[in-house]
Amino acid sequence: MSTSLIQIHSLTKSFTKGQNVITPLDNLSLEVSRGEFLALMGPSGSGKTTLLNLIAGIDAASSGKLIIDSQDLGSLSRAQLTKWRSVNVGYIFQLYHLVPILSAYENVELPLLLQSLTRSERRTRVETALELVGLSDRMHHRPNELSGGQEQRVAIARAIVHDPGLLVADEPTGDLDRESAETILDLLRSLSRDLDKTIVMVTHDPRAAAIADRALHLEKGQLVSQLQ
Ligand SMILES: Nc1ncnc2c1ncn2[C@@H]1O[C@H](COP(=O)(O)OP(=O)(O)OP(=O)(O)O)[C@@H](O)[C@H]1O
Ligand SMILES: [Mg+2]
Repeated sequence: MSTSLIQIHSLTKSFTKGQNVITPLDNLSLEVSRGEFLALMGPSGSGKTTLLNLIAGIDAASSGKLIIDSQDLGSLSRAQLTKWRSVNVGYIFQLYHLVPILSAYENVELPLLLQSLTRSERRTRVETALELVGLSDRMHHRPNELSGGQEQRVAIARAIVHDPGLLVADEPTGDLDRESAETILDLLRSLSRDLDKTIVMVTHDPRAAAIADRALHLEKGQLVSQLQ
């Protein structure tokens, strides 16, 4: 078995708007090892989110190959891709995307409602995930009763509660003060190191990129350099 969790060969993604064809990803090739913590940087519009969405199975490529853990994502139907994603991927967003009327506990429980688990099985997993992010004492708080850093930790608990091997994060510290950002980065670092999660993180922050195992730069839909 390959040690690469993610294998990307000549991946292209184009959107057609009227007469215009936009190609945010242009013939990109990349391998990401199992358990690697990869940072992706690059200017606005360079295709970072587009690439994350393909890796997460949220969107489909126009051409090229994307293989994750021996699964060729291009061979899956929309419905199969959704199912694959719900098992294998956790997505962390810049603005958390928590449901405001639900408690931290209920937000983290949401992805598990798609699985056939008993209520007590769900409880064990939700409590474990909230403990991992250090928020056991806030589980009955709603998002508006939490700080931004705490909201992001709830969002990370939600992303890991179904125990996916792959986490993708789109500017996870982009809206946080420096101290909260460091807490989030330490948490991602330990998820990679201690729980062997593979992480692909988009960031504009060189300090965030520096704690990753490797940082790559995108420009106009292509990888331009490798910093580390
Ligand atoms: N659904 C879509 N339809 C048409 N064009 C799109 C779509 N999604 C993205 N694009 C275009 O693809 C290009 C890359 O967008 P993308 O969101 O991947 O950039 P990014 O690197 O994440 O930028 P930022 O740092 O601002 O988040 C942009 O020109 C964008 O307008
Ligand atoms: Mg983006």
